[in-house]
Amino acid sequence: TEQNHDTDVLVVGTGPAGGAAALLLATYGVRTLLVNKYGWVANTPRAHITNQRTMEVLRDLGVEDEALAQGTPPELMGDTVLCTSLAGEEIGRIRSWGTGEDSATEYNAASPCTMLDLPQIYLEPILVTRAASRGATVRMDTEFLDLEQDADGVTARLRDRLRGDEFTVRARYLIGADGARSRVAEQIGLPIAGQEGKAGSMNIVFDADLSHYVAHRPSVLYWVMRPGAHMGGIGMGLVRMVRPWHKWLLTWGYDIDDPPDELTESQAREIVHDLIGDADVPVTITSRSLWTVNHNYATEYHSGRVFCAGDAVHRHPPSNGLGSNTSVQDSFNLAWKLAMVIRGEAGPELLETYSSERAPVGRQIVERANLSRDQFGPIFEALGIAGGSDDEGITRGLAACREENADGEKRRLALTEAIELKNYEFNAHGVELNQRYRSSAVLAEDSEEAWQRDPELHHQSTTRPGAKLPHVWLVDEHGRRVSTLDLVGRGQFSLVTGLSGTAWSSAVEYCREQLGLPLRLVRIGTPQARDAYGDWRRVCEIDESGCLLVRPDGYIAWRHTSGPDTPEQAQQQLHRALDTVLHS
Ligand code: FDA
Repeated sequence: TEQNHDTDVLVVGTGPAGGAAALLLATYGVRTLLVNKYGWVANTPRAHITNQRTMEVLRDLGVEDEALAQGTPPELMGDTVLCTSLAGEEIGRIRSWGTGEDSATEYNAASPCTMLDLPQIYLEPILVTRAASRGATVRMDTEFLDLEQDADGVTARLRDRLRGDEFTVRARYLIGADGARSRVAEQIGLPIAGQEGKAGSMNIVFDADLSHYVAHRPSVLYWVMRPGAHMGGIGMGLVRMVRPWHKWLLTWGYDIDDPPDELTESQAREIVHDLIGDADVPVTITSRSLWTVNHNYATEYHSGRVFCAGDAVHRHPPSNGLGSNTSVQDSFNLAWKLAMVIRGEAGPELLETYSSERAPVGRQIVERANLSRDQFGPIFEALGIAGGSDDEGITRGLAACREENADGEKRRLALTEAIELKNYEFNAHGVELNQRYRSSAVLAEDSEEAWQRDPELHHQSTTRPGAKLPHVWLVDEHGRRVSTLDLVGRGQFSLVTGLSGTAWSSAVEYCREQLGLPLRLVRIGTPQARDAYGDWRRVCEIDESGCLLVRPDGYIAWRHTSGPDTPEQAQQQLHRALDTVLHS
């Protein structure tokens, strides 16, 4: 229906959600139009923590190296500091983002990718320029106004903000990736649960050489306990690295019941100097804005042919660094489904699984981020300043924690425990990687998964349907390491089996023909994928002659833990699994 539709997918918004959606769709060969109201992408750093799962998405897209070249590496990310000011006393530290000795082992084992600090000003140009170079049409200064949908497509009214005129675009599907004030979500009436405007916060972006105060304890985050730190905001005052060690973003709270009219440049400078603790450091303020902490999540992510992703469907404080990550991962879930439905390889019901799989994740991360914000409370309590304090109170509180007596010991213990609780924000590996999907695009097993450790703190690998394919290193025919994740994905379904899974190999050929589907066969044990370290055998939870059906997004759709009884049975079982998952 090329004639009836101007494009297959219209994506509104070039943030992490929209940029990723357009890049994915273009990579999958889908006609895509990407529009943004403004002339270019984000002009302030915004979200930055880029977790391993997002890096895996970028790796699948072939842009991981570009991201690594633009970002700040884990070595400079992890020594999170709690202090009375950058020049003042330290309250404590937290080894963060998997950089502590024990967690480094866990993070390394979980993924071929590392964490990265990649502010949106660097991430978005990668997504948007790559989308354009792979065939997406990118149109800036183009505002989405409204839409109408029918059985055959979506008609969107757009405004050219340079010329001022309005025009319509006819698309088969529309993705609203238009952020926290999503007009798309509002127009299709997505139900939004939770609370809006819980607390007041401000961002101040500034240039200042702070090497002297930070280079010996390299981190993305310096949390600052100054008078007023209990008020609004994201738990405490925060000085966040954008570029080591001269570009920064400061976050500070205000009383939401008594919001300031505006934040002047001189007020901003005063706050910056206060948190640095040195008024002589030259500071250039480059931007300042007021915003509110939200606790909102949509319980449905689509209506008909219109889908929303990113902040349009989950709005929460930056705690845990989940905003941009979850947005990219929403799009990774949606894009292959749209591509397969548009190509006629899957039935349209497959698209419903986007909402059933991602809405629970959105709710979980909104709850987590808000709880992490509240979990600064015990630090204030340990210092004896719950409810806030002045300079003297903070000094006294810290002094009490250093007293050489039983009371001091008690306070020190409470402070240590309070800081340890922050692992749920700074080392929440499970929150980052343990998503489990339940939907009609997964053939779930009857038994419940047993969590070996705290599922928020620790990643658990499994090949149960609904989980992500475990990463282990294999060795290719050139003797180079290759991740199991590198063998799947890139827009295609894969069947993973072992050397003795020959019945599955012929079942793959049978299904390719029967379903007209580009189905990839991955045989672990062949020279291209040798289990040289024996790690696959350790984690795969299936016999060598069993198989895993892996979706384009790396999630396991179905598994058969042992070999089939006959080759015919293998054909039938794989055919049935694909039919079910694809709703074909
Ligand atoms: P995002 O908001 O990034 O993108 C929305 C896109 O839609 C934009 O391109 C916008 O121009 C476009 N758009 C909106 N309406 C449109 C219309 N009608 N027509 C056409 N285009 C339209 N997070 C964090 O972890 N740490 C932080 O410090 C910050 N700081 C921060 C500061 C500011 C100023 C903002 C706005 C946000 C943050 N965030 C943040 C949140 C973080 O930026 C957010 O979670 C992600 O950007 C969400 O990505 P999305 O792609 O969903 O929306």
